[in-house]
Amino acid sequence: MATITWHGHSTFSLQADGYNILVDPFFSGNPSAQTKAEDVSADFILLTHGHGDHVGDTLAIAKRTGAQVVGNFEVGNWIMAQGYDNVHQQHIGGGFQHPFGHLKLTIAFHGSSMPDGSYGGMPAGLLITSEGKRIYIAGDTALFSDMALIGQGGLDLAVLPIGDNYTMGPEDGLAAVRLLKPKAVIPCHYNTWPLLAVDVDDWQAKVSAQTATRPVVPAIDEAYTI
Ligand code: NI
Ligand code: MN
Repeated sequence: MATITWHGHSTFSLQADGYNILVDPFFSGNPSAQTKAEDVSADFILLTHGHGDHVGDTLAIAKRTGAQVVGNFEVGNWIMAQGYDNVHQQHIGGGFQHPFGHLKLTIAFHGSSMPDGSYGGMPAGLLITSEGKRIYIAGDTALFSDMALIGQGGLDLAVLPIGDNYTMGPEDGLAAVRLLKPKAVIPCHYNTWPLLAVDVDDWQAKVSAQTATRPVVPAIDEAYTI
């Protein structure tokens, strides 16, 4: 049993196998966030890519908690260049058995410059296997047909961006659900700003009506148990 909590935008916390894991911890400046970066606990911080709305409060939280930061090689180098050394670097297609479970970085079609404009390597999705559950967090990405491969092992949960403009919109998000065939899907990266406005009730209804996947739209800071 694992739990996942949405903090708005693409920020999630996971409790898995006794560890606190933050994904793309963007609290300061996140209009949806109700939690403060100073109040979160973390053993691990997973980063999908280098953009500011994903790296967010990583350095402050890591320095306060001692959490290990996990990301691609270039993102890891940037974190270390900021003076924080507890970093684990992986890259696309590579998996590693962490204390909380297995993490593989998957492809994502997007950019990945760091907040200061330096090169952040390829953006990634996260495929996490923990406590017998498989969770796919797509990161910022376009729709791509290899999502069918990611779904092949069976997914208990997919977390997909649906806000359009920078990532998949609602229609491509629905197509992604059809390719991934997860048991449940949580949408993210929408309604953070007017540019990402989405009628999430309409999207939820379409997923329910047109797929076998259960759409879950958690309230901010509400935990969902897998
Ligand atoms: Ni991005
Ligand atoms: Mn983003």
